[in-house]
Amino acid sequence: MIPSINNICCIGAGYVGGPTMSVIAEKCPEITVNVVDINANRIDLWNSKDLNNLPIYEPGLAKIIKNCRGKNLHFSTNVEKEIKNADMIFISVNTPTKTKGIGAGKASDLKWVEVCAREVAKYATGHTIVVEKSTLPVKTAEVIKNILENSNEKQEENNSTFDVLSNPEFLAEGSAINDLLDPDRVLIGGESNIAIMALHNVYRNWVANEKILHTNIWSSELAKLTANAFLAQRISSINSIGAICEATGADVREVARAIGTDSRIGSKFLDSGPGFGGSCFKKDILNLVYLSNYFGLREVANFWEGVVQLNSWHQHRISELIVKKLFGTITGKKISILGFSFKANTNDTRESAAITICRDLIEEGAILKIHDPKVNKYQIEDDLNLEEHSHLLSKDNFKIQRDGAWIFSEDIMDSFEEVDAVVVLTEWFEYSKLNWEIISKKMRKPGWVFDARSIISAKDVINSGLKLWRIGDGSID
Ligand code: UDX
Ligand code: ADP
Repeated sequence: MIPSINNICCIGAGYVGGPTMSVIAEKCPEITVNVVDINANRIDLWNSKDLNNLPIYEPGLAKIIKNCRGKNLHFSTNVEKEIKNADMIFISVNTPTKTKGIGAGKASDLKWVEVCAREVAKYATGHTIVVEKSTLPVKTAEVIKNILENSNEKQEENNSTFDVLSNPEFLAEGSAINDLLDPDRVLIGGESNIAIMALHNVYRNWVANEKILHTNIWSSELAKLTANAFLAQRISSINSIGAICEATGADVREVARAIGTDSRIGSKFLDSGPGFGGSCFKKDILNLVYLSNYFGLREVANFWEGVVQLNSWHQHRISELIVKKLFGTITGKKISILGFSFKANTNDTRESAAITICRDLIEEGAILKIHDPKVNKYQIEDDLNLEEHSHLLSKDNFKIQRDGAWIFSEDIMDSFEEVDAVVVLTEWFEYSKLNWEIISKKMRKPGWVFDARSIISAKDVINSGLKLWRIGDGSID
């Protein structure tokens, strides 16, 4: 008989766990959803009265939290208790790329997943369905199952038994709530049909039957890596064509529109930008590379590695061309950076192109004013990871600083005072509405605008007397 799920525990209250559980709670009022995390500070933020203080920014999220928190949605650090009570446990913890040891720089570090699996083994009671939700390398479910069944932390008196499912997350940050409410598909991989149907029935509360796909567990794990690899490959492809456009006088927007009308190619995900970021693309491709090498498929590994290499080259290419356009030197020059998150509508900065580009510019001696509507200065400080003195804390320091530093810009109009260039790195809507006539008057001349997202009006910039470079556009200059 298919068990009905009454109590869900999600381990990991991050960008995946938080929004996913909020939507499950909203759509399944009869299920109690407990989200647990070892990071007490993060949990406090999830519980904050002021919904502007939630630890992650996602359009539509605060409204759901307001509806469900304290009713059937709870955030706590009580990992043991909530594992004990749960009949379904989602593992949604971080799985960054390993920095040392075997597979360093490519394989995912599964230490947090392993800790979780051991905790589940120790505390779970009766039959529990464990769902892997974190982005994981293929065969992780097998590792989890092995730990659950054989761990010596397992307590005999708990009579615990387990099924493990893979249910990869396809939400994109910035549109996570919509992606969860109206997914293209939900993928469930597993061995036990009964467990698959138990999770299927949770999603059936709001997702149509035909959109819920069942596969074996490895296909499900590999499908997640493959989806992200294909998407990332599209970005590297269009960015590579953008470089050719700049060299030849073509315009990548026109090329994208022309190829996008081919129904086999499709028009989405063809915007040339400063290079892909986010926590998934690079990590997932590197997992594929690791897997391919492991199985002796060197050509396959090289093929996918090229996507990441192109992305990294592309980011540095943008820094280099900024230096070139500013007469070959930016030492002591002031540059305004608009946007630090890896895309609009999120405060997430993981793998953001802005990190690489800002570091390059600071290394070349520029003094940056960095603005972002949702990323705070502590996060930027952490990401840039520079010597302490390079973070200028006061405007007075900014005026007298000679080279290689940055300051956080609270007020966007302040960002343009005396700068030689403005660089748009994130496609925040507010940046597309700037008044370039006013901005131009504040800047040092000749002033440059580098639009790495193609979101500002080329006409307005040029009419205001500024020089413009736009990603993939060889038709200006
Ligand atoms: C991605 C996948 O889309 C999602 O399905 C998966 O679950 C997690 O990884 P996410 O990283 O949140 O989601 O963002 P996405 O919208 O895919 O963008 C990734 C990067 O590509 C961003 O840096 C974005 O700016 C860039 N991008 C995207 C482009 O440069 N051009 C585009 O046309 C689309
Ligand atoms: P993602 O984008 O995959 O959601 P995040 O880093 O945003 O990744 O979130 C992962 C969360 O998992 C973090 O808040 C982290 O504190 C939490 N976490 C990691 N290990 C454990 C664990 N053993 N028990 C509970 N929470 C954990």
